Amino acid sequence: AALSQDELKRVAAHRAVELVESGMVLGLGTGSTAAHALDRIGELLRCGVLRDVVGIPTSEWAAARAAAAGIPLADLNTHPVVDLSIDGADEVDPALNLVKGRGGSLLREKMVEGASRRFVVIVDESKIVSRLGGSGLAVPVEVIPFGWVLTLRRLRSLFDGMPGFNLKLRTASTDAKASTFDENGAELEPFVTDNKNYIVDLFFEDGIHGDLNLISDEILRITGVVEHGMFLGLASSAIIARNDGMVVMME
Ligand code: A5P
Repeated sequence: AALSQDELKRVAAHRAVELVESGMVLGLGTGSTAAHALDRIGELLRCGVLRDVVGIPTSEWAAARAAAAGIPLADLNTHPVVDLSIDGADEVDPALNLVKGRGGSLLREKMVEGASRRFVVIVDESKIVSRLGGSGLAVPVEVIPFGWVLTLRRLRSLFDGMPGFNLKLRTASTDAKASTFDENGAELEPFVTDNKNYIVDLFFEDGIHGDLNLISDEILRITGVVEHGMFLGLASSAIIARNDGMVVMME
């Protein structure tokens, strides 16, 4: 029988955990795929196959999940060099550029994964795109709450004229709520990140056309933008679980 999407996520995650060695400082990813990796690392610690690893969580969620799995936690200040990070992604392009942040953890993910000697992305086949932004999912931008309407307008002008472009403040469906007003004065409950910021989601109907590094620089130059979810040149490899259950590695 065909494997479910969650089983494919687990297959990719378990393959990545084979790269973990005793004594390593690990970057612990966020999301439903990374969850399988955290649980597996916990199992291997419990049965003694792995020893002395410490994990740097990429979110409050990852910290809680890792603690429940029995993984000792540390932080980036005491462990600024990470041996190996394992995390999921929303999209992976042929050059191993990623979109991340559907779960809202892009800032800490980018800090931890950017500090890693090796960063392995774990995905099922559905995450593979020919162009970032091409799956119709959001490219998230973390912004500070102060003046967010102005920041959103500046982001909008950056992509003005790109056909099919759209953007909006991410709103809360969970407990992470605040209260604010949009540009027309309507009350909103924004999604709030672990860093107490908001997220503006960018949508590109046909993916992001143009030089990604340039577009990244332009987004980051807007005052009020903290970080965005394009991870360019950060991943060392991707472990992809194909729909038929075969695992392929992209480097
Ligand atoms: C969290 O902010 C994201 O970057 C996740 O790593 C990404 O959304 C992948 O999540 P899933 O494994 O649940 O698809």
